[in-house]
Amino acid sequence: MLVHIKEIVPHAKKHGYAIGAFNTSNLEVTLAIIKAAVTKRSPVIIQVSESAIRYSGLKAITHIVETIAKNESVDVPVALHLDHGKSFHSIAECINAGFSSIMIDASDLPFDENMFLTKSVVDYSHKREAWVQGEIGRLIGVEDDIDIKAKDALCTDPDDAKTFAQETGVDTLAVAVGQSHGAVNLRQGKSEKINIKQLEKINKKVKVPLVLHGASDIAENQIKEAVKLGVSIVNIDTEIRMAFSRSIRKVLKENKDMIDPRKILTPVMDEIQKVVENKIKMFGSENKA
Ligand code: G3H
Ligand code: 13P
Ligand code: ZN
Repeated sequence: MLVHIKEIVPHAKKHGYAIGAFNTSNLEVTLAIIKAAVTKRSPVIIQVSESAIRYSGLKAITHIVETIAKNESVDVPVALHLDHGKSFHSIAECINAGFSSIMIDASDLPFDENMFLTKSVVDYSHKREAWVQGEIGRLIGVEDDIDIKAKDALCTDPDDAKTFAQETGVDTLAVAVGQSHGAVNLRQGKSEKINIKQLEKINKKVKVPLVLHGASDIAENQIKEAVKLGVSIVNIDTEIRMAFSRSIRKVLKENKDMIDPRKILTPVMDEIQKVVENKIKMFGSENKA
């Protein structure tokens, strides 16, 4: 069932687990995420980026998530979120479409401008009962609309995070503690290191649930540490993309004459479902629905 994000995230923070926020842009990925949530009886966040919305259309992707959540997940909660919202226009459109949570990612602006824009988005969204995720700090990485080079990456400063959260009134806060978007490490068979000490300092100063973006290639032990230190939402996109592309290549290579999209995409969905189920176990949200 589709729920407001406020019905699942405070419970996760209170009980020391995190909820996976998984990116989608189509029917198959959405189905796979929700099937994983149902199998593991876990709450999930399904999120779409502005470029995913450009790909699928806002109405189409909203209806896909709502309908699958209603029909497949029955009593397993699914919340819908805008990931990396950059413009007021797309934030307003998503709230109108029924999203219960949006992100304003102004992390590339100077601190004061980030605070000013985030605060205006909070004022607008709270009047419409939507939650707002802000971001302070900057992750390295390239994904369609995001391209941050190593020299521009910024670790979140704990005092700035405290001021930012208090002044803007955000409901959740994305922080940068050495992780990156994408999975450069994973492709080289390595995992990504995050700065646990920095996270500990941030957690001491910030009350709202923290969000860990770029979590695809972070090792399980580090994710578990992060969850103990106030991370209540963990974002995964790249590992879903990798499962999709790896398995579609395999299916087509092994079945050169296969032309039925359903036959091609069923094993692909199974692979994505496995990735999401593993993440759910890692985040501790299994059997929390
Ligand atoms: O963190 C960003 C997400 O992975 C979305 O990426 O804009 O390519 O859809 P995208
Ligand atoms: P990855 O693509 O590194 O998993 O990051 C996902 C993310 O942060 C979405 O906002
Ligand atoms: Zn992100």
